[in-house]
Amino acid sequence: MGLILAIDDLSVKKALEILNDVCDYVDGIKIGIPFLIRNSSSDLKSLKTSCTKKLWIADLKLADIGYIMVRTTDLIAGFFDAIIAHSFVGIKNGLDELARYCDENGLKLVLVATMSHEGAKELYDFALIRMRDIVKQVNPWGLVAPATRPEVIYFLRRTLGSKIKILSPGIGPQGALPGEALCAGSNYEIVGRLITRSNSPLKAVQEIISAQKRKLRECGINMR
Ligand code: XMP
Repeated sequence: MGLILAIDDLSVKKALEILNDVCDYVDGIKIGIPFLIRNSSSDLKSLKTSCTKKLWIADLKLADIGYIMVRTTDLIAGFFDAIIAHSFVGIKNGLDELARYCDENGLKLVLVATMSHEGAKELYDFALIRMRDIVKQVNPWGLVAPATRPEVIYFLRRTLGSKIKILSPGIGPQGALPGEALCAGSNYEIVGRLITRSNSPLKAVQEIISAQKRKLRECGINMR
């Protein structure tokens, strides 16, 4: 497969309904800040028990000094397998402390290399080589790179090697098609609204997976 469901602005009831339908088809679930603020830890627990043996990612998009990123991560560490932080905060007294905490607590660290929205071209993309170097030095489990700009994924995969996991959002409302990021070298495509706003989330997931397989056949890559 290679699909991560993004849950952002859903009620617990709706999120449970969707997970009930699509859990078997996805590799992971990424929970966004709106959901974390709106709901309690017991809501999160019920979500997690409804869909087990998946990669649960907290999309905190951390961007602070190391101490605060660690304290923030510590509050949710028990619920998640992975967390997302921005790479632009830098390493010294920043990502070094977070990476150490993740290492010691069995959490996977995912760094944003650049973003999927248009605004990423205004600043983030100009610093791409520096971001790549920071990712290389921190050596996290994974990075986020945009499905909307496959050439960026190619570049990161080519220069960082095959071990690091690449997670790519930007499919659907932001313009990318399912499978394009996988063809460029991503391991997972992150999809939110295309699934969560569909009248049939299950049908949407099945269509996305079929489209991914079609695209991968076209570009000559076996499904990871
Ligand atoms: P949609 O509804 O557009 O949701 O499929 C996309 C999900 O992915 C997140 N997102 C990003 N996360 N870097 C990230 O770390 C990005 O460039 C990026 N673009 C989108 C978004 O928060 C939502 O959960």
